[in-house]
Amino acid sequence: MMNSPEIKSKLPNLPVSIFTSMTQLARKHGAINLGQGFPDFSMDEKLQALVFKAMKDGHNQYAHSNGNPFLREVISSKINSLYGFQPDPETEITITPGGTYAISNALTAVLRDGDEVIVFEPCFDSYIPNIRIMGAVPVTISLRHPDYSIPWEDVRSKITSRTRMILINSPHNPSGSVLSETDIEQLRSIVEGTDIIIMSDEVYEHLVFDGEKHESILRYPDLFARSFVAFSLGKVLHCTGWKIGYCVAPPAFTKEFRNHHQFNVFSVSSALQQGIAEYLQEPQTYLGLPAFFQRKRDLFLEGIKGSIFQPLQTKGSYFQCVQFPEEVAKSSAAFAETLTETPGVAAIPLSAFYADGTDNRVLRFCFAKEDETLLMATERLRKI
Ligand SMILES: Cc1ncc(COP(=O)(O)O)c(C=O)c1O
Repeated sequence: MMNSPEIKSKLPNLPVSIFTSMTQLARKHGAINLGQGFPDFSMDEKLQALVFKAMKDGHNQYAHSNGNPFLREVISSKINSLYGFQPDPETEITITPGGTYAISNALTAVLRDGDEVIVFEPCFDSYIPNIRIMGAVPVTISLRHPDYSIPWEDVRSKITSRTRMILINSPHNPSGSVLSETDIEQLRSIVEGTDIIIMSDEVYEHLVFDGEKHESILRYPDLFARSFVAFSLGKVLHCTGWKIGYCVAPPAFTKEFRNHHQFNVFSVSSALQQGIAEYLQEPQTYLGLPAFFQRKRDLFLEGIKGSIFQPLQTKGSYFQCVQFPEEVAKSSAAFAETLTETPGVAAIPLSAFYADGTDNRVLRFCFAKEDETLLMATERLRKI
């Protein structure tokens, strides 16, 4: 073998992603995979047809770097109808290859060596590596178990002159908690009069249940003035593999975001953008999502009644967390592996969402699945 030059890793000692390892394990044991967060049902054929039509109509070359203007207009109207604020499609909306990218590109645009970013654990796995890669410092704060609310007093105590950003995520992955109006007030009182920027991950914006309202940062002009807000169309349209989303931010932030975006990726699939723009003109395509997913959550909850699993409250997202008794297993990672083998249901241990592996004996199940899948999985879980 020829010798290759050494690369000094910018992200040393990263474990294999829990999603990759649990999915591999699920395959090996033929388990029902409620681990990774993606639907196992088909997306709307009408959307597929619109994208196919867009290809036939010639939407096959590089799209506008900021995103298809028609799609940006449709998104602006959608935001206005949901949150009472109409962002300027020209200067405040950028189409991205997914929500993860929208976050990483915003972090790239903002963070410098030594900046501190307040980040709440458990958290989506991309946040901390993306902070570190910029030479910035993640300042982690644990959400309160078992309701996974933000301990605002801890936030206050961790603010320093180097705090550059607070990264929030509502509805929250993995816990299913959502921010309330009181949380927004707390956030406001902390950032007011500072240079702190808010990164708000709202990829599950439509997945809020039991009549709760999604507290989007876009509802609050004073907070929006210091925010990047990330969205995922893959989550909204049941096509996570399309990797398409957008970032909404005030003009000066968007300008800086686009400076990096044009050299990172330049533009996003033109046919997808055109097809999605036409599809989203009809609000029913997303207004039915809360009821659709709430029914699935309730089906899962009904299915695990009488089992050893104690459900925690899921107010949003497509994840249901459950706690298992101490006598069953000590480690949730080990228990998740056991469950994948027998009775054959894959889940993600919440400990994987903490840098220090905090373990409250909680597993996360994704209920964005066919009813049959959920019925089969819960039948197996009841047998433990
Ligand atoms: C909290 C959170 N943010 C971002 C993403 C990624 O969104 P996308 O697939 O559009 O990159 C996910 C996907 O699981 C997520 O759960």
